[in-house]
Amino acid sequence: MVHPLQPDEWRVLAQYIYSLCGIQLDVSKQYLIESRLSPVVKDTNSSGYSELYYKAKADLSRRIDRQIIDAITTGETSFFRDQTPFHLLRTKLVPDIIENRRALNLSTPIRIWSAASSTGQEAYSIAITIKEALGANTSFDVRIVGTDISDAAISRATRGVYSDIEVERGINPNWVARYFDKHPNGWTVRPHLRSLVSFRKLNLLEDFTFLGQFDLVFCRNVAIYFSPADRSSLFCRIEKALAPGGRVVVGATESLLDVCPALVAKHHQRAVYYERLSAR
Ligand SMILES: C[S@@+](CC[C@H](N)C(=O)[O-])C[C@H]1O[C@@H](n2cnc3c(N)ncnc32)[C@H](O)[C@@H]1O
Repeated sequence: MVHPLQPDEWRVLAQYIYSLCGIQLDVSKQYLIESRLSPVVKDTNSSGYSELYYKAKADLSRRIDRQIIDAITTGETSFFRDQTPFHLLRTKLVPDIIENRRALNLSTPIRIWSAASSTGQEAYSIAITIKEALGANTSFDVRIVGTDISDAAISRATRGVYSDIEVERGINPNWVARYFDKHPNGWTVRPHLRSLVSFRKLNLLEDFTFLGQFDLVFCRNVAIYFSPADRSSLFCRIEKALAPGGRVVVGATESLLDVCPALVAKHHQRAVYYERLSAR
C-alpha cells in the first residue's frame, strides 16, 4: 500500500512531469498523479512518491522517466475520432493536395504527420481516408508519420493490432474487410495500409525540424495539456514545418486563435483547418 501523496510531493512531481513532457497538472489533478504513479512506485520498489522522484532523477538510463511518462499521458483515442476531420481530409484537403501537385508538376511524396498519434488509430484512419480518396489513382507516393512521447503507445501503434471493439466501433465493415486481417487478439492492419505509415518517439516540446516538411499536420488533443506558452511555441514551430500550401488540423475543442498569428482559420462545411497567413 503506497501512502497518500503529500502536497509537497505533488508540487515536486508536478514540476518534474512538466519538465519531462510539458503536461501541466495543477492541484485539482493531485489524484491523477497519485493513482497513475502508484503502480510505478511499487514497480520501482520505492517507499513512496518522494523516493520515486529521487530514483527517477538519479536513473541515468531514464527508464523510470519513461515509466512515468507512460503512466501519466492520456492516450485516449479511437479510429476516425470525431469523424469531421476525416470528412474534411477526404473532401477538401486531399483533393487540394493533388490539385496543387498537378499544378506545380510536383512528384515528391505527399507527407502527413500525426503529431501525438497515441496508439496509432489516428495515423491509420488518415491512411484509410487517403486510400479511399485516391481510389485507383495510385501514382501518388503517400507517407504518414505518427509520433508520440509514450514508448508504450509507439510500440502498440507499430504493432498495429487492435481489439474487436476498437476496430468495429469506428470503422465500417467494408473498410474493416479491406484494411484489416483477423488476428488472435482482434484485428491487424493489412500490409498495404501498414506500409504507408511509420511511427517514432518524439517529444513535441523538443526540436522536430529533422522530420522535414509536411503537406498536412494533424495535432489533435495534446496541446490542451500544455501551458499557453508551450502551446504557442508548438504551433508556431509546426507552421514552419508546413510545405507550401500545407495545412494544420486540431482537435474539436481546440482553436489556434491567439496561439500562432501566422496560422489562420479556414472553414469547409462544418470543419475548421488552418493555413499560413501568407506564403513565405
Ligand atoms: C489524448 S491523446 C490524442 C491522440 C490522438 N491525437 C487523438 O486525437 O485521438 C494525447 C497523446 O499525446 C501524447 N503526448 C503527451 N505529451 C506529449 C509530448 N510532450 N510530446 C508528444 N506527445 C505527447 C500522449 O502520450 C498521448 O498519446
